[in-house]
Amino acid sequence: MSRPAVPDKRIRRFMARFTERSGTMARFQDKVAIVSGGADGMGAACVRQLAAEGAAVFALDVKADVAQALTEELSGSGAKVTALEADVLDEEKFRAALQTALAAAGRVDVLINIAGGSAPGLVADIDLSVWDRLYRLNVRSTLVACQEVLPMMRRQGRGSIVTMASISGLRGDPGWAAYNSAKAGIISLTQSLAWEEGLNGIRVNAICPGPVASERMLATLPPEAFEQYDQASALGRMGRAEELAEAILFLASDQASFVTGAALVADGGLTARTGQPTDFDRVRSEEFARRRGGK
Ligand SMILES: NC(=O)c1ccc[n+]([C@@H]2O[C@H](COP(=O)([O-])OP(=O)(O)OC[C@H]3O[C@@H](n4cnc5c(N)ncnc54)[C@H](O)[C@@H]3O)[C@@H](O)[C@H]2O)c1
Repeated sequence: MSRPAVPDKRIRRFMARFTERSGTMARFQDKVAIVSGGADGMGAACVRQLAAEGAAVFALDVKADVAQALTEELSGSGAKVTALEADVLDEEKFRAALQTALAAAGRVDVLINIAGGSAPGLVADIDLSVWDRLYRLNVRSTLVACQEVLPMMRRQGRGSIVTMASISGLRGDPGWAAYNSAKAGIISLTQSLAWEEGLNGIRVNAICPGPVASERMLATLPPEAFEQYDQASALGRMGRAEELAEAILFLASDQASFVTGAALVADGGLTARTGQPTDFDRVRSEEFARRRGGK
């Protein structure tokens, strides 16, 4: 007997109940979320998705005008998004912006720490001021944000924090020790915090994206670098901000209720291989060349 093309009423009712129970449609209804670095790239994708699923969102960003434009764009669809200017490198103002959000909302269910950044430099001669800046931008700012939301999450007896690491935090790369070790620091901070706050009902997880075609990457990378990134991924392409937002929001949501202290890799398979050359690489290069040639 062939399957019916359209599910019958019974199946549709079951699917509707399943969706309702698992909360896939509005996981963040009436929740309050704070997103640092929420104006652009993966941060903006998180803000959009959180708002679409019913959350009141505070988008903190150094680019206040971009965050404001996002807020105005989303307000048309009834989203509750507030833009707050905050440079995570300015600790006092960053803490003040977080406190503004907490005071305005009176609670916080989700903290997503996206703001961060990178800079190259060989270990032998990297400028220590560059090193220190990357640690402040990535590790210290993550610590500061967590410190500000923890008292309220503890009072609530629940909360979910997602920190922005990277696959760079899982391995080394020549010329990128400052960035990679800072992201490794975020993973370690995440794991310790998960244990410190587990009994308080607070989950803490890190996301480890592979290369994502953010505006910054598009603006700064030479065209040949994109091809190399594509080839380095099992899926043959870089990630999209929206795809990373899906993984981040899974960690932030109750769907991940038993997940804490995790470092979730979303990298199109980049770190799944050892890096050893194999015969398959030739076949793959030919396939890439064929696609480039549009054949
Ligand atoms: N793009 C990638 O391939 C990739 C991969 C792994 C991890 N990451 C990490 O993801 C995060 C976002 O990177 P991205 O490439 O999506 O976008 P991005 O560099 O454009 O930054 C995202 C947002 O953070 C904001 N931001 C930057 N510095 C800030 C500061 N000092 N204070 C407040 N806000 C600030 C930006 O204005 C922007 O809106 C970073 O932590 C980065 O290390 C990126």
